[in-house]
Amino acid sequence: MPKALIYVNAYYHTEQIAYQPARLREELAARGVCAEIAQTDALPVRVEAGGVRADTAGYDLCVYLDKDRYILRALESTGMPVFNSYKTVTLCDDKMLGALALAEQGVPLPETVPGPLCYRGEARLGGQTYARACALLGLPFVVKESNSSLGAGVHLIESEAQFCALWERIKLRPWLMQKFIAESRGRDVRVIVVGGRALGAMLRTSQGDFRSNVAAGGSGAAFPLDAALCAVAERAAHAVGADFCGVDVLFGKEGYLVCEVNSNAFFGTFERVTGLNVAGAYAEHIVKKCGLCPHG
Ligand SMILES: Nc1ncnc2c1ncn2[C@@H]1O[C@H](COP(=O)(O)OP(=O)(O)O)[C@@H](O)[C@H]1O
Ligand SMILES: [Mg+2]
Repeated sequence: MPKALIYVNAYYHTEQIAYQPARLREELAARGVCAEIAQTDALPVRVEAGGVRADTAGYDLCVYLDKDRYILRALESTGMPVFNSYKTVTLCDDKMLGALALAEQGVPLPETVPGPLCYRGEARLGGQTYARACALLGLPFVVKESNSSLGAGVHLIESEAQFCALWERIKLRPWLMQKFIAESRGRDVRVIVVGGRALGAMLRTSQGDFRSNVAAGGSGAAFPLDAALCAVAERAAHAVGADFCGVDVLFGKEGYLVCEVNSNAFFGTFERVTGLNVAGAYAEHIVKKCGLCPHG
């Protein structure tokens, strides 16, 4: 019987996070693959003079539900099939690298400007950054911490004082500035794409916050997957090479704009409100891509 390892982060435990590996194990089992759930603090990989070693003998593949790129890169280096790949997680876990990958593939997205890196805590913000950002993006504009998630590092800037105060807090981390898509205030669409195909869509709406993340108080409802939405989401998934992802899509004045691609998208709320079997679709894709014979 084929065997899979499902890796989860050792230090991050919520009900939503526990749901994902359990559902994937169930759906892999339904396709004849026996999956075990493992934590990253088992220290499963080592780099040695002769190459990279991993404690994965006897396993056919890894489903990697963490963003810890060191372990993922090492697993991939041993030749183990991993879902998602190091490249995908790297592009999705850095909002600026993700935006570059999307733009290079012609995916429509809001105008985005990389924030200049600052290495010193005592450094002061010069006068030209805010003025130039306003000239390029208009007001208000959005500032994002590049490695953030769940809406926590996404901010709406409406004044220079607000911008300066935020910059002081985030200046030692990678960040970007982006045009605010006012038509999409408090709402966006989450599309799940598996194996290159859009599976379904969920409208996320927030009352009283420009961010629609469910984790930040937004609520989800099933949303029709029209041809334009399907095309933009599948293109975005392709641009980052995702086996599985959740694409956040904004409502632009002239059509859909991709906000970001999430390689580690939660699918609990999505399964509940759409009735779609996301874990099943992902398991099916994994089994096919690895050429595993179900129940063999
Ligand atoms: N440029 C933008 N214009 C309007 N709303 C935005 C913009 N960027 C992000 N948002 C809102 O903020 C939310 C969080 O931003 P996102 O880039 O997806 O970061 P996170 O990784 O925290 O989810 C989005 O789901 C969307 O509702
Ligand atoms: Mg998002």
